[in-house]
Amino acid sequence: MSHSHALLQPFNLSSFKANNRVFMAPMTRARSAQPGDIPTALTAEYYSQRASAGLIITEGVPVSAGAKGYAFTPGIFTDAQEAGWKLVTDAVHTKGGLIAAQLWHVGRIAHHSVLPAGQPPVAPSAIRAQAKTFAFDAQGNPGMVDCDEPHALTEEEIAAVVTEFAQGARRADAAGFDLVELHGANGYLIEQFLSASTNKRTDSYGGSIANRARFALEVVDAVSAVIGPQRVGIRLSPWCPPFVNDMDFSSEAGEITLYLAEELSKRNIAYIHIAEWPGVTYTTEFRQQLRSKFNGTIIVCGGYTQETAQQTIDTGLIDAIAFGKPFISNPDLPERFAQGAALTEADPSGFYGGDAKGYTDYPFLKA
Ligand SMILES: Cc1cc2nc3c(=O)[nH]c(=O)nc-3n(C[C@H](O)[C@H](O)[C@H](O)COP(=O)(O)O)c2cc1C
Repeated sequence: MSHSHALLQPFNLSSFKANNRVFMAPMTRARSAQPGDIPTALTAEYYSQRASAGLIITEGVPVSAGAKGYAFTPGIFTDAQEAGWKLVTDAVHTKGGLIAAQLWHVGRIAHHSVLPAGQPPVAPSAIRAQAKTFAFDAQGNPGMVDCDEPHALTEEEIAAVVTEFAQGARRADAAGFDLVELHGANGYLIEQFLSASTNKRTDSYGGSIANRARFALEVVDAVSAVIGPQRVGIRLSPWCPPFVNDMDFSSEAGEITLYLAEELSKRNIAYIHIAEWPGVTYTTEFRQQLRSKFNGTIIVCGGYTQETAQQTIDTGLIDAIAFGKPFISNPDLPERFAQGAALTEADPSGFYGGDAKGYTDYPFLKA
């Protein structure tokens, strides 16, 4: 195998064959049909345009009405949503692609205007995030609003949320997804349990590292029981900085991530996906430790170029690179890498909401 082409060569991702190591990162695009937060034929077109990725990871997909924190995000808890996602997976599979649903519970990053009436956001502890979410203001206009104070989950309620993830996995399977990715990154519910800054519990879900990791592992186990561990991945963001959803994950981030890696390895899940944030140095030592503790595929994401992606894979410590913004604006990203072609810049004004503009209208290379 020519090492310099490894990025674009097939490899075994768990029990699947990925066409290359250029993955599409999960990205919320907030274009679901209303009412009902339903993926549409346009969603299917968007993802199928990007089917040459080694693996597509969908936008965050709320596993229940109470898991939602942002307007217009497509869910996976109703029959209509499941049918919408079936359009997506069929379109991607027709083009030979592989696709994972990112199962999402936002926890405290939410606002009552996008939640069922009378239902507050939930979190490990009743600590309000100094953060905003995209919901509706008092006049009913969509926009950025302050997150509400969350209700601290009881143990019974935690069990119910774990079940919601399992139901999400069941529907993801029925909708034809190859894998699911648990969203354990970026300050959302799973990470709220992991971080001592957001988890002040005194029961078996708080305190020690093993206790704070308990919720994540219960979700992994519940989802694995439904679809099999070889179809489960998890996204984590050690050292997630405060500007991301008011997360303070500086202390023990490495330790808890390595603890999780060891536990996840015992469970034989498909992959760990590290969301890397600017300003944080992910050391070679950390990557070596992660590699030695985890037996599955390791993906990293955040600011990579073709060159840095190849260099990172060449270290042998990382198996695949997920690209976010480059995949928004370059539906044929692997082909562009193969040809050394110029990339189109992504226009942030089209990231969230709206229609085909800034979504399915980015150009392919000319045939
Ligand atoms: C428009 C947009 C939406 C995003 N939505 C999500 C999401 O739903 N889930 C998630 O884990 N990360 C999300 N991210 C973060 C990306 O997955 C990725 O980590 C980030 O864009 C850095 O990678 P890049 O430099 O290749 O874009 C989003 C990023 C962007 C730009």
